[in-house]
Amino acid sequence: MDLRVAAAVSLLLALATTTGAVTFNATNTATGTIGGLRFDVAVGLDYANLVLSNASAFIWSSAFNQTRPADRKPVDAVTLVVAADVSGAAAFTAADVITLSAPYVGNYSGDVRTEVTGVLFHETTHVWQWDGQGHANGGLVEGVADFVRLKAGYAPAHWVKPGQGDRWDQGYDVTARFLDYCDSLKPGFVALLNAKMEDGYTDDFFAGILGKGVQQLWQDYKANYDA
Ligand SMILES: *[C@@H]1O[C@H](CO)[C@@H](O)[C@H](O)[C@H]1NC(C)=O
Ligand SMILES: *[C@@H]1O[C@H](CO)[C@@H](O)[C@H](O)[C@H]1NC(C)=O
Ligand SMILES: *[C@@H]1O[C@H](CO)[C@@H](O)[C@H](O)[C@H]1NC(C)=O
Ligand SMILES: *[C@@H]1O[C@H](CO)[C@@H](O)[C@H](O)[C@H]1NC(C)=O
Repeated sequence: MDLRVAAAVSLLLALATTTGAVTFNATNTATGTIGGLRFDVAVGLDYANLVLSNASAFIWSSAFNQTRPADRKPVDAVTLVVAADVSGAAAFTAADVITLSAPYVGNYSGDVRTEVTGVLFHETTHVWQWDGQGHANGGLVEGVADFVRLKAGYAPAHWVKPGQGDRWDQGYDVTARFLDYCDSLKPGFVALLNAKMEDGYTDDFFAGILGKGVQQLWQDYKANYDA
């Protein structure tokens, strides 16, 4: 091809990579239930799509320091389905599809829009985080998702306070608070940890980044909060 065509093609390719076009698509399959109706009234699909998009941008730029699309997990679409047949969990994520429980929305007592926003930050993190090719500590994976929810300002009031909990890898809020401590020792720690988790996982990643093993860090953390 001639030079001008080649230049145009490479410009287009560059634009496609730098914009990293990702589709966000929320649907509600539970509109015939009380929870599904409450979702439409209190949250709505337009708002949910904005949250998926905002959460993704926050995860790339702030939490995971992935300003270049090439650093991110290759995902073309983040999908949300509000579903009636989910019980026992607020939401779950598999294969870039977030399923939000309509019964959870229906039963939630309090500001359900803020709660759903926080849940979506957690689940959107599952879409974008590396999990050591499936070998990462499961408590850590959940802790990273709640760390992002915390940093985005959506930690609910019922979460443990900093310093609380029994094990570093207890998961969810306990591990999120611990990761926040680790991140305070070295800003960007969670981003570095996530990057290391692309190909595999070992607890030694903590020592590799912070110079101290994870058990020692947990003891320091507990001592720091006198907990
Ligand atoms: C969004 O998802 C619905 C249901 O899965 C599908 O019918 C629709 O084509 C999707 N829209 C886009 C823009 O991907
Ligand atoms: C999305 O982010 C923009 C820019 O930060 C903000 O103005 C907007 O309120 C956010 N919307 C939602 C639904 O989070
Ligand atoms: C509350 O949760 C229960 C159990 O999942 C469910 O059967 C019920 O429909 C929910 N209520 C509402 C209003 O969504
Ligand atoms: C983010 O990553 C860039 C390299 O891509 C690096 O120079 C920078 O120090 C990182 N920021 C933090 C807070 O780690």
